[in-house]
Amino acid sequence: MTELSVYEPSLIVLCGPAGAGKSTFAHRHFSPTEILNADVMRGLLCDDVNDQDHNEQVFEVLHRIAEIRLQNGLCTVIDATNLETAARLPLRRLAKHARLPTHLVIIEADLELIRRRNSERDREVGEGVLRRHMQLLEELEPSLSKERWGRIDKLDARALSEVRVKRCTLPPIQFSLTGPFDVIGDVHGCLSELRTLLDRLGYTEDGSHPDGRRPVFVGDLVDRGPDSVGVLKLVLSWLEQDRALLVPGNHDDKLYRWLQGRAVKVQGGLKTTVAEWQELSAPEERLLRSRFMAAMEAAPSYLWLDEGRLLVSHGGLEERDHGRVGDAVRAFCLFGKTTGKVIDGFPERLDWAADYEGGPAVVHGHVPVRVAQWRNRVADIDLGVVFGGELCAMRWPEETFVTVPAERAWWGEGIWGATESADEEIRTS
Ligand code: CTP
Ligand code: MG
Repeated sequence: MTELSVYEPSLIVLCGPAGAGKSTFAHRHFSPTEILNADVMRGLLCDDVNDQDHNEQVFEVLHRIAEIRLQNGLCTVIDATNLETAARLPLRRLAKHARLPTHLVIIEADLELIRRRNSERDREVGEGVLRRHMQLLEELEPSLSKERWGRIDKLDARALSEVRVKRCTLPPIQFSLTGPFDVIGDVHGCLSELRTLLDRLGYTEDGSHPDGRRPVFVGDLVDRGPDSVGVLKLVLSWLEQDRALLVPGNHDDKLYRWLQGRAVKVQGGLKTTVAEWQELSAPEERLLRSRFMAAMEAAPSYLWLDEGRLLVSHGGLEERDHGRVGDAVRAFCLFGKTTGKVIDGFPERLDWAADYEGGPAVVHGHVPVRVAQWRNRVADIDLGVVFGGELCAMRWPEETFVTVPAERAWWGEGIWGATESADEEIRTS
């Protein structure tokens, strides 16, 4: 039995020749309102499911319904042949715009099978069309390498009835994790202050807590401070034992990309982490690299917790993106809301929290502030410990703040709060 995992919500695009079994498969596993079938649209617009003369209108309507469903956050299955790049491209765009995952499900068939299945049903498709579909199916592989799909799965048309579909929630959505939590602000390598804070919050050395509390790190574990490697070792061991949660910060992401060998400029805060990294012995380096990279790959861009009451993201998240994913959402989570403009050498930031009217409390870091406070159910808990400020935790569900003062200004003394942007890459949300 083959299992097909699909995200809910997502855009699921079926792809296969006429008679491969797309509609049969869709109806077996999805509700009628989730399926957008081109033939049904033909019927609605032309009273003839075989009408091929109004395809422009048929797909205009199909795309518009898909667009609205995806924007409404609903699972949407496209039941059409989708064998040509030109058919798939607008669909991927709609999902990207709605910030939902894309999933291409290819139903692989052979000419003999589709000939037989087509001859056995009322609506017969001509031999020429079937041959053309088989040719497009064979040519699929090279075109797909140029298309960005979240997932691509291939199913054997002869074994379709054995496929089981498993619906999974999107990785950031972890409503069943109900806490209690201690959300911890940007640590930036300040290991000693982190130990003091964890001790004050009641955690033991190994990350356990008498009340079953769990730390949720808001990201930016590394850079600028005195012991980024020490912070990573502590946090990774807790993560690996499932005693803590993490969302990545832009500094963590930059270190990750440097470790991947990507073109990252080693400047600013990253220099301190790289210097520490280069002091590690080769076996220690290999181990820490693989542990850190695994943790980063496992960490969703943000975490939506406690039955939807609490959302944690390094750069925060506007309500319209709660429950959404993709590049734009990830950029917001890492960098906050930026305009892409640079003013006096710093990325221009927008104060999205000023307009926040959402239900979930949003806790974030990224922008150092002097005091932690709730504003429109949003709290910034980066109190700039590395600049000589404080390390802050937000206790959930208490909604209170616990702070530990910096032992000294580790970075940018005298320019507190101004350097955050200086070594940050500029991204738009
Ligand atoms: N069929 C079958 N066994 C399957 C799947 C389909 O016998 N596992 C039969 C269906 O009952 C139908 C025919 O094959 O008579 C075509 O299946 P359908 O799901 O309609 O194929 P589609 O891929 O949807 O074809 P089209 O593109 O023409 O809509
Ligand atoms: Mg069909």
